[in-house]
Order: sequence, then structure tokens, then C-alpha cells
Amino acid sequence: MIRRATPDIPAILEALAGPGWCVASGFLERDHVAALAAECRQAHAAGAFHPAGVGRGQSARREEIRGDHVVWVDDLERGPALGAALDRLEDLRQVVNRTLFLGLFDAELHFALYPPGAGYQRHLDRFRDDDRRTLTTILYLNADWQAEDGGLLRFWPEADGPHLDIPPLGGTLVTFLSDRFWHEVLPAHRERLSLTGWFRRR
Ligand code: OGA
Ligand code: MN
Repeated sequence: MIRRATPDIPAILEALAGPGWCVASGFLERDHVAALAAECRQAHAAGAFHPAGVGRGQSARREEIRGDHVVWVDDLERGPALGAALDRLEDLRQVVNRTLFLGLFDAELHFALYPPGAGYQRHLDRFRDDDRRTLTTILYLNADWQAEDGGLLRFWPEADGPHLDIPPLGGTLVTFLSDRFWHEVLPAHRERLSLTGWFRRR
């Protein structure tokens, strides 16, 4: 029996080197996802989250554009599940640098919580006035996400081509070159959690 490695890093590297985007299930094991979701909810219950803004520094609040609430990882005390997830992402950053020479220097990461009804309109992740964001990583923390829960990531592999709808299933990592791919979060009908961020160049 062939057992796929968890996470399947070679497959992620191949996809990033080719089309520039990848959806990888099983980036974190189920128990790890549950523990990370619990840490995320705990931070939310403690009042650590704030409504996300748009633009550099998230300075402008525009609920019609995005309705999620976020907390930057650097502003949190790290629980063991978050620590281990960050280690995984750091491993990914290093292997991407070694193989694809993207010069990823650091990461800015946040937990994002979409309350029921919230979405995020079609956008690119790189700002007009700041081109450091290079590789987007979105790690979903939702167990048992159903079709009726909404909250799909709508993703355009080509700006004027057909789109793909990706359910935010726990343990799935979506990663793509930040300047290239339009995407949108359709309104979620139940709480939708992720650990989302950007590897940046200097
Ligand atoms: C973002 C974003 C997508 C998602 O935070 O910039 O596009 O599926 N998130 O959560
Ligand atoms: Mn985005």
C-alpha cells in the first residue's frame, strides 16, 4: 500500500512551481486541527479578535468588503497547537525557499473567524503600495463542513476563466502566489475558522 506523506510537501512544491497554486488536504492531522480550533475559539472568547480592515495595515473597516474578525498570531500567547502549526508552516517556508527561490523572509499570520453571514469580496492579496506579500497560505480549521454551511473559497486559476469552489475543510491548506490569483469568500452560514497569512519578501 502506498501511504501518502502528511503533509505532501513534494506535491505542494510541484504545484507552486507549475500553476502557482495548490489545495492540499491533510496538511495537519485531525486531532491537531481540533486543538488549534479550540485555541482559536479560546482567543476569541477572551476578546482578542477585532473586525478585519482592508488595505495595508488593515486601517480601513469595510464590512461590505470583508466581514471576518481576526487576531494576529504575534499578538497572542502561543498554545501548543498553534506553536506546532507555525513550525509546520516554517518548514514549508524553508523548503519553498530552497527549491523555488522565492526569498520568503518572514510570515504575517492571523486567525480569521467569519461569523454567520460574513464573506470577503473578490480580491488579490498583494497591496498596490506594498509588494512584499508573496505566498498566501490558508489553513482551514473546520470539522465536518457541509455544503449548506456556505463559506466556499471561490478561486480563479485564470482571472477571466472559470472559477473553482473550495470548501474550508479542516486540515486543508490552500496556498498560492499572492499577486496572481483572484479569490473570494462566499458568505458562511456558520462560524468559519482559519489560520491565514502571507510569507513575505523583504
Ligand atoms: C484572505 C482570504 C480566504 C479564505 O484572508 O485574504 O482571502 O478562504 N481568505 O479564508
Ligand atoms: Mn485573500
